[in-house]
Amino acid sequence: MERKIKEATELIKNSKHAVAFTGAGISVESGIPPFRGNDGLWNKYDPIVLDINYFHTNTNEAWEVIRELFYDFFGKAKPNPAHVALADLEKKGLLKAIITQNIDNLHQAAGSKLVYEFHGTASTMVCTKCKKKHNSSGIDLKILPPTCNECTGLLKPDFIFFGEGIPEQANKLSFKAAEQSDVFIVIGTTGEVMPASMLPSVAEKSGAKIIEINTEPSNFTHQITDIFLEGKAGEILPRIISGLL
Ligand code: APR
Repeated sequence: MERKIKEATELIKNSKHAVAFTGAGISVESGIPPFRGNDGLWNKYDPIVLDINYFHTNTNEAWEVIRELFYDFFGKAKPNPAHVALADLEKKGLLKAIITQNIDNLHQAAGSKLVYEFHGTASTMVCTKCKKKHNSSGIDLKILPPTCNECTGLLKPDFIFFGEGIPEQANKLSFKAAEQSDVFIVIGTTGEVMPASMLPSVAEKSGAKIIEINTEPSNFTHQITDIFLEGKAGEILPRIISGLL
């Protein structure tokens, strides 16, 4: 493993356009469970709660679970050493962007500036009627469903539900970043969900070297990964940073 970490560190050090692509696994060490795997959220909750049609037909039930999962519980999570390491890499000019599938805002909380939120974010809510955006921190979730203070319309978290499209800007910028990358660091994702899971292949086809950090093999590992670093992101990424000092 030591040799592979050294190899990955060298690749990043000599890169011109390294990009990171993160999934739920990078936030597990912040106390946020992943979606899949043994203690995955989809083992405990029916993904239907994040289906856009269900949200509109069973609004209260959906909001009960959304509040519990993404606001009461996740809302208190803090960045872990993996998020901090990526922010350090950006500060060193060695990471041009982070494309994240996560909605927890932990990359920004760790200090990362250029973060493309491919699935949106829980930190804002949007009014389904007048489209006004609201900071989630300013919304009282004791009364559900939350409504817009402008037009009393139903508020929806600003992340995409199953059945919704990818935010246009994030989509465009993420695919561009993958095409431009010469090193693409895939961290903590099963690669189960399209179109996000196309991004590493786009990077690879554009000639990027793929470094992958995961506690177990993913859909990418035996297909396109050049260097597979098996282990926790919160342990491996700081070792890469210390190899750059
Ligand atoms: N360090 C690195 N990887 C980890 C760690 C860790 N500490 N803990 C878990 N992992 C890995 C798991 O092995 C798994 O491959 O993180 C991955 C988590 O996979 P998923 O739960 O499927 O998360 P993700 O790939 O981000 O899911 C994509 O699915 O439900 C939708 O919109 C949701 O954005 C999410 C999308």
